[in-house]
Amino acid sequence: MDAAIAPVVLAWYDRQHRRLPWRSPPGQPAPEPYRVWLSEIMLQQTTVPAVMPYFARFLARWPSVHDLAAAPVDEVMEAWAGLGYYARARNLHKCAQAVSERLGGIFPDTVDGLLELPGIGAYTAAAIAAIAFDRPAAVLDGNVERVLARLFAVETPLPQAKPELRRLAEQVTPQQRPGDFAQAMMDLGATVCTPRSPDCLLCPLQAPCIARARGIAAGLPRKTAKAARPQRHATAFLLQRPDGAVLLRRRPPSGLLGGMLEVPSTPWHDTPWPADDIADHAPAARIAWAPLPGRAEHVFTHFALAITAVHGRIGAAAATKLDGLWQQPAEAVLPTVMKKMLGLLPDSAPKSKRNPRRGQGRP
Ligand code: ADE
Ligand code: SF4
Repeated sequence: MDAAIAPVVLAWYDRQHRRLPWRSPPGQPAPEPYRVWLSEIMLQQTTVPAVMPYFARFLARWPSVHDLAAAPVDEVMEAWAGLGYYARARNLHKCAQAVSERLGGIFPDTVDGLLELPGIGAYTAAAIAAIAFDRPAAVLDGNVERVLARLFAVETPLPQAKPELRRLAEQVTPQQRPGDFAQAMMDLGATVCTPRSPDCLLCPLQAPCIARARGIAAGLPRKTAKAARPQRHATAFLLQRPDGAVLLRRRPPSGLLGGMLEVPSTPWHDTPWPADDIADHAPAARIAWAPLPGRAEHVFTHFALAITAVHGRIGAAAATKLDGLWQQPAEAVLPTVMKKMLGLLPDSAPKSKRNPRRGQGRP
């Protein structure tokens, strides 16, 4: 039965593939390895719609791996801001430098060669080898795992099922068109065999699919119950100069959001901050901090952060004495969690002048 899977999936892909800027149409010569690599790094943990504008901007700004390697890392981090998981951006830049400097701009064309590069793990190496170099590597992402778990009715929960799913992926991956096959399985998982309600009536695999026959598709893949995500709490310090600029700081280079800009805040603590303790962590002394209404929430992989904010004002002269940099809130390029902190600021844009001829407007 397994031998029958790939032809059916490829025929479906020929008709139904998603047209994406990093792809070649089915059966056409492979896209440039640089584009494949860039898209695969961006697509880890991030959805296709979210990646689209970033991919376009990166390619326009850095058309080749040499251009990206030559860019200052801060510019790359800034262009990445909003995509999340910032270690990926740092490794992206390191990898571009390795390919540009050590390999003359040529990406390795095997899984093993690709695995030696920074930021390229088993999934990405297999995806690039298959999509850019037609290597019959088994590509297993979350979408593909779901399709395979259903097709073969794998009832072992994830993550324990991974080795079994990997064997199945190797079994079904064809020698011909492995890149199209990998992307076909991704598309099938993203558009038809979706997590909650698989659209089996539109699926090219409905005949061989065991989970469908047994009526258990929507419940697969099973997952081992995860420990609940811990909750943490932070209060952000929104300190403003008379011109409206806010104080930002650069985070340490490693760790969460390493090297990115931040809004100063209390430590991210596992209990809410008592009002009296907040000012101990302020980035400036002798400021009358006023609590702001509203709160925000940001979910990281390993915890969720509840955010409140306090507001303070500082004179232009005193502002020059603080560590950090001053930016207009609307112009700052920030990670999403930091944007949410700034979002608690009362509208700080310069107010447009009101129409002076009052009384002549609409009733
Ligand atoms: N997710 C990861 N890689 C992808 C690709 N090449 N096409 C669509 N979705 C993806
Ligand atoms: Fe998924 Fe249904 Fe297709 Fe099976 S038949 S692979 S459950 S969409």
